[in-house]
Amino acid sequence: MIRSVVRGNGAALPRRIMKNADFEGMVETSDEWIVQRTGIRQRHVAADDETTASLGEAAARAALDSAGLTPADIDLIVLATSTPNNTFPATAVEIQNRLGMHHGFAFDMQAVCSGFVYAVATADLYIRGGLAKRVLVIGSETFSRILDWSDRSTCVLFGDGAGAVVLEAAEGEGSIADRGVLAASLRSDGVHKDKLFVDGGPSTTGTVGHLRMEGREVFKHAVGMITDVIEATFAEAGITAQDLDWFVPHQANKRIIDASAKKLGIAEQKVVVTVDLHGNTSAASVPLALSVAVADGRIKKGDLVLLEAMGGGFTWGAVLLRW
Ligand code: UT7
Repeated sequence: MIRSVVRGNGAALPRRIMKNADFEGMVETSDEWIVQRTGIRQRHVAADDETTASLGEAAARAALDSAGLTPADIDLIVLATSTPNNTFPATAVEIQNRLGMHHGFAFDMQAVCSGFVYAVATADLYIRGGLAKRVLVIGSETFSRILDWSDRSTCVLFGDGAGAVVLEAAEGEGSIADRGVLAASLRSDGVHKDKLFVDGGPSTTGTVGHLRMEGREVFKHAVGMITDVIEATFAEAGITAQDLDWFVPHQANKRIIDASAKKLGIAEQKVVVTVDLHGNTSAASVPLALSVAVADGRIKKGDLVLLEAMGGGFTWGAVLLRW
């Protein structure tokens, strides 16, 4: 059977780093509060010349380099983002053009923080359905543009950045020993819309709007939703937490990550944590975490890796793959 195998990956971060202490003169907060409640120590913030498209392009180029491929080898670009350069056209198409790619097709995917997990699961279907041989899956965000910088309950939590993987069709035996995407489980429930949303949009206010979140409410649902969808993925693949080599969760809050891993019985040393470095970068968080753990030699070819995310909507999901 056809499997979607990761052939390369890459990342890009804005030049400017903003430390927790940099907020102390802007809103009533402290480095101590942010570290204790979230685990975040710093985040990258895009300059005017750094956009979702430019960061996504840089991450895509890095992923192509690591795969030993060029844009000519790609059939499809799926960009997960909630902060597109324009309402339309899709920023994926802009990235396609920036890469000098005038064949194939490209589209955006909007599932907020779950976007990259949704995009990998979607790209896998295009590959297994024979519609694409190689897919660039990108998560790129500039949440700094939609933050209310006077709201301490949200502005300290988010950061900008991009990550990408190249997925490639390869023959597998149909067993859990295959490399590539092995199982996926996606969920959403719009009843939770008002707990995490942007208070503007083309069809309602005609403005871009700002991010609003009832953090405590999101927190309350997060661990249960994350663990449910991961257990569904384990059941589909016929594995347990002990079989995993690496758990790469969405990086929103260290306390959510720790509680989820504990509930699932995933050992602490198997959990990739980058929320301290990047903050919550929404759809970029999982591929950015992957890039750190691949670059430092933790994630290696053949490792069993679990990706997970949960975000606005709510949306949530998990993907199991062998690197
Ligand atoms: O990526 C999508 C998913 N999003 C998430 O996963 C976010 C989920 N939520 C969270 O991570 C946490 O709920 C937060 C980090 C947002 C907040 O942590 P918390 O432990 O739930 O704190 P809280 O909202 O219960 O607030 C505790 C106190 C409040 O003061 P009072 O009402 O107790 O007097 C807040 O006003 O902390 C206050 N507070 C702050 N204090 C200093 C809120 N933000 C700040 C701040 N600095 N930046």
